[in-house]
Amino acid sequence: MPRQGSRRIRAVVRGVASPFNGVLKPPGDKSISHRALIFASLCEGVSKLSGLSFGQDVVATYNVLSKLGVNVSRDSVDHTLLTVHGEGPWSYKEPSDILEVENSGTLLRLMTGVLSGTNGHFVLTGDSSIVKRPMLRVVAPLREMGARIDGRQDGALAPISIRGSRLKGTKLDTKVPSAQVKSALLLAGLFAEGSTHVRERVRTRSHTEEFLAYLDIDHRSENQGGGREVVVHGLTSAPKPFNLSIPADPSQAAFFIGGALIAPGSEVTFKNLYLGEGRDAYLSVLRRMGANLDESRHVSDVFSSGDLKVSYSNLVATEIHQGEVPALIDEVPILATVACFAEGKTVFHGIEELRTKESDRVVTTTEMLRRFGARVESDDSTLTVYGDTTFSPKPCNVQSHGDHRIAMCAAIMATRVNGDTEIEDFNCVETSYNNFLGDLTRLWHGETFIA
Ligand code: S3P
Repeated sequence: MPRQGSRRIRAVVRGVASPFNGVLKPPGDKSISHRALIFASLCEGVSKLSGLSFGQDVVATYNVLSKLGVNVSRDSVDHTLLTVHGEGPWSYKEPSDILEVENSGTLLRLMTGVLSGTNGHFVLTGDSSIVKRPMLRVVAPLREMGARIDGRQDGALAPISIRGSRLKGTKLDTKVPSAQVKSALLLAGLFAEGSTHVRERVRTRSHTEEFLAYLDIDHRSENQGGGREVVVHGLTSAPKPFNLSIPADPSQAAFFIGGALIAPGSEVTFKNLYLGEGRDAYLSVLRRMGANLDESRHVSDVFSSGDLKVSYSNLVATEIHQGEVPALIDEVPILATVACFAEGKTVFHGIEELRTKESDRVVTTTEMLRRFGARVESDDSTLTVYGDTTFSPKPCNVQSHGDHRIAMCAAIMATRVNGDTEIEDFNCVETSYNNFLGDLTRLWHGETFIA
């Protein structure tokens, strides 16, 4: 799958006082899409995936698997349909080239886990943001399992070089609450001799555990207080292939949910959103703020999903506690954007993990909101927004810092501006949402263009 254009573009959003109306099915869930591809490549036989995200992050997973010799083919008309001809967990070929994860931290961390126990030498690297993202959180516990991994600063930073080796099952505690770290260790555990125990103090999103259950892979997952322990055993045979329809991404819906909540007269229905544990916590925060959210859940035995109707709401401020953060980590920037329109002081506590994302999101969220005239304060681990229901953001020029979520938050804020907002490096939204501007214009009826 060829890389999409990497030229830098500036988007202009011309604010008009119009509501958000209509129905939206956002792109397939990104976390589930990555895992669906990786797990399908470990199965023996043909898996069919539909509703996949085709943002650049997931395309990178597709490309990495292809370089490892996995036969993956995409429907030439509907890019969300994919067929994976898996040849089992021991079938990856040593690639003749480096593996490019581009902007995807999830891909980098998950494949570091998988490749640690796979025969061959592999080098993983990515763009200018990926080479700054912390890797020791994954590399150190993998080394305890016997992995041979190197990288810049003794394995703390990509490029990461892996010499696949025999791993041994180990008892591990994750040092930071991170689904990427937990998933990397569990995936490595599938290639290890014996049992791998992964314990997290705060529960993080559970898609890897969902796939283990869905594919009948022997494992145990147990909630312990606010945390969880998951135990996996080295695979002795290939899992069976599967056909999966991937639900829509709640983290992508979050931008338009935010837009509808702050624009008087809005009403938008979101179809088939993933609503499982670990991803819907931001909806609870919005409910606390007084958001009108009407949810109807579908019955499903795999990935919980449902429809959600959202309408304009008079919002009030709230406090987001440290323990809530892992389950809404990707939604902090849009919650902060919405909080500018909520009466009172909204405080996000314990958000230091936000500093390790595609950009330092404590800094870039603060800077972006201030450009619009919002009153925001932040330090190492706290973000405070002083909101006002009559807040009227001002026209400005905003840097996305190449971070898709910052760019999309800026576009939503820009819909409430009386005038033009310029958003730099807007093409980074393709990381996760190819047709973001198209969906924005369709739901909001305002004017957007590329300058
Ligand atoms: C993800 C986990 C989260 C999230 C990322 C996707 C995943 O990262 O920020 O966008 O798919 O496991 P951490 O759990 O490492 O914070």
